[in-house]
Amino acid sequence: MTPPVTGSDGSMVEADEAWHPAWLPGAAWRAVGSRRVLVRGAGPVLDTVADELTRAGAEHGGTVRRSTDRPSPEPVDLVFALTPAELPAVPGPLAAPGPLPAAAGAVAADIERRYGPDALGTEGFALARRDGVTVVLADRPAGLLYGLFAVVRLGEAAFDRDRAAEAHRPAADRRMLDHWDNVAVHPVTGQVERGYAGGSIFWRDGRARHDLPRIRAYGRLLAACGVNAVSVNNVNVHATEALLLTDRLGDVAEIAEALAPYAVRVHLSVSFATPVVVGGLPTADPLDERVRAWWTATTRRVYERIPDFGGYVVKADSEGQPGPFAYGRSQADGANLLADALAPTGGVVHWRAFVYNHRQDWRDRSTDRARAAFDHFAPLDGQFRDNVILQVKHGPIDFQPREPVSPVIAAMPRTRVAVEFQVTQEYTGQQRHVCYLAPWWSEVLRFAPWGPDGPTVGTLAAAGGYGAPPPAGGGLVGVSNVGDDRFWTGHPLAQANLYAFGRLAWDPELDPRTILDEWIGLTFPPARAGVDEAVGDQGSVRRILHTVMDDSWRAYERYTAPLGAGFMVRPGVHYGPDVDGYEYTPWGTYHFADRDGVGVDRTGATGTGFTGQYPAPWAQVYESLADCPDELLLFFHHVPYSHVLRDGSTVIQHIYDTHFAGVDEVIAMRHQWVRLAGLVDDRVYARVTERLDEQLRSAREWRDQINTYFFRKSGVPDARGRRIY
Ligand code: GCU
Repeated sequence: MTPPVTGSDGSMVEADEAWHPAWLPGAAWRAVGSRRVLVRGAGPVLDTVADELTRAGAEHGGTVRRSTDRPSPEPVDLVFALTPAELPAVPGPLAAPGPLPAAAGAVAADIERRYGPDALGTEGFALARRDGVTVVLADRPAGLLYGLFAVVRLGEAAFDRDRAAEAHRPAADRRMLDHWDNVAVHPVTGQVERGYAGGSIFWRDGRARHDLPRIRAYGRLLAACGVNAVSVNNVNVHATEALLLTDRLGDVAEIAEALAPYAVRVHLSVSFATPVVVGGLPTADPLDERVRAWWTATTRRVYERIPDFGGYVVKADSEGQPGPFAYGRSQADGANLLADALAPTGGVVHWRAFVYNHRQDWRDRSTDRARAAFDHFAPLDGQFRDNVILQVKHGPIDFQPREPVSPVIAAMPRTRVAVEFQVTQEYTGQQRHVCYLAPWWSEVLRFAPWGPDGPTVGTLAAAGGYGAPPPAGGGLVGVSNVGDDRFWTGHPLAQANLYAFGRLAWDPELDPRTILDEWIGLTFPPARAGVDEAVGDQGSVRRILHTVMDDSWRAYERYTAPLGAGFMVRPGVHYGPDVDGYEYTPWGTYHFADRDGVGVDRTGATGTGFTGQYPAPWAQVYESLADCPDELLLFFHHVPYSHVLRDGSTVIQHIYDTHFAGVDEVIAMRHQWVRLAGLVDDRVYARVTERLDEQLRSAREWRDQINTYFFRKSGVPDARGRRIY
């Protein structure tokens, strides 16, 4: 049983009854909760730190003291303190400088000596242990909150030996989740567009849910993995949602207040046409003075109500959403309109680069959807205001299980660029399949657009770009996979994707296996103290979860669309196989399979020229059939089925082999999972078991449809004589 959660109205709800504690069960707090803790500093976020520690102490026998100006002789094991320079700035009795315990004072001096003043920034913290005291210092309150969760992650290891002072700062300032939640249930996309975890935690049937304890609990989980912003409504903004900016602003303010104690800021998705649909103006032309005045006044009112409001997210001129093109204006004109309205209050506009023609003629082989974002945005580099962040999907098309990195990320030195990932598993098994996505995101983040000596996507996203001087920071954005499901994410193991997104946004260099290991340790802690987590049942839990999850994205890739071809999913729902489902549609997602071969020719020599959007060396690598990485072969080239891959196998044989192998892996995963019966929570066990059954059914369907399709197209039999239909 996990401890009660204090609702923002002060009421207590039993977390374990209402929802799963995810990576913050009571037992994960054992090491911290059994210590004598001193918290020094004041303010709402410091109160959160102290409340968290108090709750953990109540469960595990520790004590928590808030510092006063009177020195106390009582010994402490763990100190959370704002660095002395910051304390006088915070009003109230708890803020008085007062002497730090000797160890903490020494750590403060150490940090200053090693990293200089203000080394920790607005969210960083220093962690050290000396003289039997573990010390967390920060320059600002949010840093102590992140430091707290870092100590929770470490568990007993935070107390077992001396640690030299280390400064930890997030790589990116902006670590945001976009909820594609609708306020009113949409006739096609439902309550949550591409949501696979039940309803929305914010909205239900046209109204706010006011479920503040749950929203608070969500903020807590986000802070514990490093996320600091959420956008609370779908990027496709319909009539009801447009009112969040005006008439229903109170609902947004309520969410913002519930999340603020966990240092999570709220953003809103807005429709470019709001001045028309809500404001009653005859136009939304970004250069029209009335439109500008409307956005300025409206934005001012938002900040009057929500002083720490983050800003807007905009999907414009995309898949039917309104935008500046209707007025003959550019995407920069549109983005700058909102940026100007937000500038006085320090807000930002996340302007999405997902702009393409979704009414393409499939007969037209010259239009290439992959080119669209670059073609629209690269020429505009330098035209965006400083508070515009261009939000770019990580791949050029749409969150497929395999795509190259979007060339836009390396094309806009004078623009702040954020990289968008899809945590919700629209194209990666919809939270019915185990598909741990961190290895995929990590590959993207480690990709170096100018070759091994240049910066990586992770560095670029954190910095916002590569111009000189560098722009003010971009960030990482994830499309949320959270809903009102008991497990938050439908599939309990999909919680790891949410956790990993936050951790990679904090540090894009982290190893996906290490992140998974952390998540396992927190989510499945031993029930009793003193258990060696490496051996016995506890060791089995860790080992088995790694076996099931580590390679699950690649397994998913093996049994779905081959070699970067993408989009062989059932149209609309995007679940399950339908090889030709999109082949003759206007959506621009084709594979061009015929009796001789398959793939899209995107070369400069004979294809759409998309390869030319990359800088060297990748433009040449992708252009060359000999050099193009196999896993992206069909993304860049149309090849005969007899084309030989690097491992000596032909394309057609590779298709057969990987599809049989992918299903075998799911069978093995299932086999491993059942060994966890009785070792993990029964409800988690039951839910995952049920989902694995569906995964296996679906993987077989994928295997058989893909193999049969390509066998019938090519007429080439499987060299190993396995069953194809
Ligand atoms: C995908 C997804 C849509 C979503 C869109 C977007 O195309 O299927 O539901 O609206 O991405 O990112 O805006």
